[in-house]
Amino acid sequence: MGRKINSYSILLLSLLLITYHSNNVCYGQQQQPESEDDETIISNNIDNNNDQSSESESEQIDYVTPQIDEQYLYESFDNQEKFQQRWHKSVAHKADSSDLKYDGEWDLVRTQDLLKDDLALITKSKARHHAYSVKLDKIYKFNSKPFILQYEAQFRNGQECGGAYLKLLAAPSGNLEDLNDKTRYSIMFGPDKCGNDMKLHFIFNHINPRNGTITEKHWSKANSVTNMDEVFKDNRWHQFRLELYPDNTFQVSVDKHYAQKGSLLEDFKPPVNPPKTIDDPNDSKPEDWDEREKIPDPDAVKPDDWDENEPRKITDPNAVKPDDWNEDEPEMISDPEAKKPDDWDQEMDGDWEAPLIPNPKCSSLAGCGKWSAPLIDNPKYKGKWKAPMIANPAYKGKWVPKKIPNPDFYEDLNPFKTMSPIDAVAFELWTISDNIAFDNILITDDLDIANYISSLTYQIKKEISDEKTDNIMVKAMKYANKNPWMWAVYLFVIGIPLVLFIAFCCVSPLKLLQQQQQEQEYDPAYSKKTDQPQPDYVDEYEKKRLID
Ligand SMILES: *[C@@H]1O[C@H](CO)[C@@H](O)[C@H](O)[C@H]1NC(C)=O
Ligand SMILES: *[C@@H]1O[C@H](CO)[C@@H](O)[C@H](O)[C@H]1NC(C)=O
Repeated sequence: MGRKINSYSILLLSLLLITYHSNNVCYGQQQQPESEDDETIISNNIDNNNDQSSESESEQIDYVTPQIDEQYLYESFDNQEKFQQRWHKSVAHKADSSDLKYDGEWDLVRTQDLLKDDLALITKSKARHHAYSVKLDKIYKFNSKPFILQYEAQFRNGQECGGAYLKLLAAPSGNLEDLNDKTRYSIMFGPDKCGNDMKLHFIFNHINPRNGTITEKHWSKANSVTNMDEVFKDNRWHQFRLELYPDNTFQVSVDKHYAQKGSLLEDFKPPVNPPKTIDDPNDSKPEDWDEREKIPDPDAVKPDDWDENEPRKITDPNAVKPDDWNEDEPEMISDPEAKKPDDWDQEMDGDWEAPLIPNPKCSSLAGCGKWSAPLIDNPKYKGKWKAPMIANPAYKGKWVPKKIPNPDFYEDLNPFKTMSPIDAVAFELWTISDNIAFDNILITDDLDIANYISSLTYQIKKEISDEKTDNIMVKAMKYANKNPWMWAVYLFVIGIPLVLFIAFCCVSPLKLLQQQQQEQEYDPAYSKKTDQPQPDYVDEYEKKRLID
């Protein structure tokens, strides 16, 4: 037994070693698992870095906001002063009321506890309208350069019902403090959920070139982006990106993985371009239009031997009453054990009768009561005669109305270029769940810049989250992949105890059996069960016990 315990403890010790090891070196000394408190609101102490306890201070990573050349917009939320200067909370009123429509509160929070000075915008109210917006640094015009929108969101309390999308406002967006649900946008993009209905919206507003009417065009696959349920519930940062190109193609991606491609001309409902022809609304089916493809043969006659009167079922003429069928006993009897309920009201309920139960005398018989032969299909049954169907010589095909040129027809072969320029970005959201965080909103025409920002923002958060959720084995493997010499250590630390374990543990059932047999010889309880004479074993057992 002692040796077995030894090999167990070696195994345990080696596992502990790995745990300790992987926790300490995997991501360098500075990182530690995130504390539970993701919600640290720092807007009040953002200037006061000493506020953090010295302990957590030393474990944090100094986050550096990426610096890029001027874009249309790059908002990292890391500079609180700049944020407050340029973002506007809507003070629009509810219809027919002096109450504010957008009474949802916003704040700045740390993106992850570990990242010092990395801030994000967050919604702070449940079941409220939230509106916040910012002007672009320069207007984006849909010309010859791609349009790329990228941002991150994190659902810290999941999402019951509500959006986390962005609206790209059509220029001129006017005074942003007046922002409301009617404010015109060119593109709306981002996640939205209500119950089990989950979407990644991509909507654009198209201007009818004939009369200037604006219509929303909805991406037809908004409902079929994979893994959206995870996005809303896994409590991690997610990156959403829309790439739109001057050739009217687009690409949508979540966390850089599940990209979907499409075309502005083909993948939207209703389509950008109306049909060239429509059904003539004045055309109607002529009275004598025969749409019947087949008709009953008018020349067919009912055969003389067709008897329509034969029934479908007859009693089986070959059936005989089983010998043990008792016609004198009823099949059901009234339950002799049933009693009239105390509250039975003769006047209201009528005469009481005991419920019927199957007659117990019949349970071992083939049956009781009047016997009748079972019903079978009638072999002579033919049913009503019908003439066979033949092709209709007068058939003219399915009637369809005449096509006429669509009076509303137009053709916009370049919906990218006809989109209204964008001069602001807005959150205009209704949300049931609170604590939706947003970060790193980027509008650029250069994919390299989007990737660069992504690698210095989203990627870092992702690695920290992965680090937090990876189990010991994954951590150990990742570390060993970066430092191959670790495999030798693992082999030693795991391999040696494993050999010992097999040697001392798995071989032991036989030993254990022998041991047990020896013990049984000393066991008086065991001995008493045998018929053998029981000499001095009991005394010997007692002695042994006293010595022990
Ligand atoms: C349908 O008939 C009405 C009345 O004759 C006419 O005014 C209208 O233009 C017709 N519509 C079409 C699409 O031809
Ligand atoms: C503009 O044309 C569309 C059809 O192309 C039509 O549905 C809409 O009513 C028109 N709008 C105006 C204001 O005429």
